[in-house]
Amino acid sequence: MRRIGVLTSGGDAPGMNAAIRAVVRKSIYHGLEPKGIRRGFSGLIANEIISLGLGSVADIIHRGGTILRTARSAEFMTPEGPLIAVENLQNAGIDGVVIIGGDGSFRGALKLAELGIKVVGVPASIDNDIPCTDYSIGFDTAVNTVIDAINKIRDTATSHERIFIIEVMGHRSGHIALDAGLAGGAESILIPELPYDLEEIVAKLRRGQARGKLHSILVVAEGAANVFELGNQIREMTEMETRVTILGHIQRGGPPTAMDRLLASRMAAHAVDVLRQGDTRKMVGMKAGQIETWDLDSILHSRKQPDRDIIDLASILAI
Ligand code: F6P
Repeated sequence: MRRIGVLTSGGDAPGMNAAIRAVVRKSIYHGLEPKGIRRGFSGLIANEIISLGLGSVADIIHRGGTILRTARSAEFMTPEGPLIAVENLQNAGIDGVVIIGGDGSFRGALKLAELGIKVVGVPASIDNDIPCTDYSIGFDTAVNTVIDAINKIRDTATSHERIFIIEVMGHRSGHIALDAGLAGGAESILIPELPYDLEEIVAKLRRGQARGKLHSILVVAEGAANVFELGNQIREMTEMETRVTILGHIQRGGPPTAMDRLLASRMAAHAVDVLRQGDTRKMVGMKAGQIETWDLDSILHSRKQPDRDIIDLASILAI
């Protein structure tokens, strides 16, 4: 292994820059030559490969987004896309690539691996829906962004004695909703993985109303319900003023938390070690505080389930 490529792909996540920095600095430390691939798999096909020196990753550990840019590449899904990508990697003398992204990015990684390029995945997605790792890069920052929003919404919800329905991201998973809902003290949390009972939600809201609660917060993961329809139904059934807030892409930006910077630095540095050892088709993850390596193929054949303990506890504490 002489030259290592690094790319970010899919939705950006706070902490991606810390991961790029760790790949670059760890590679240079071991006498390797790191190369950056811009705009994910799209940039790889377009041959957007740049040299990354020590200074190129200075002053980025605290920045959200990704200095390499990112994309969701439709071209890479065509039969020719991966062939062009591999040709570009070979011409640049790149033997292995660290792919920082989510499950879609890892599917792309496997395509490169099938054509002889060594690949290691580093899980980065605010959704935290990647199996075999307790956390993916960006999740902690996103949850903290949601908490900050809930705190602010709570002030106005109390002043006006309103019900607020807050939609959070998560793609097809409810991890952001669950963690932010529990930490934000939500009355109800709706996630795509579990059906919800509107009568039960309304009964809880009425109980709160009866004992003088000034506001109620419902956290709804995208994909769990249409928040506007839900808002109308709740307004009609409770006769309480109801408002809907969709937090959207603010959840993807901002400076990464210390936890995301640590996670990104540790996992990405380990990914360089995996490639140095000549290993491939792996994903680096963190389980119970330990950095571990998993088969990429197995990651793509499993689904991360929502944490039952959090679901139960959130329901108990919002009694
Ligand atoms: O995967 C991250 C994510 O932010 C999801 O939570 C969301 O469903 C999706 O990306 C939004 O994608 P886009 O930025 O392409 O609209």
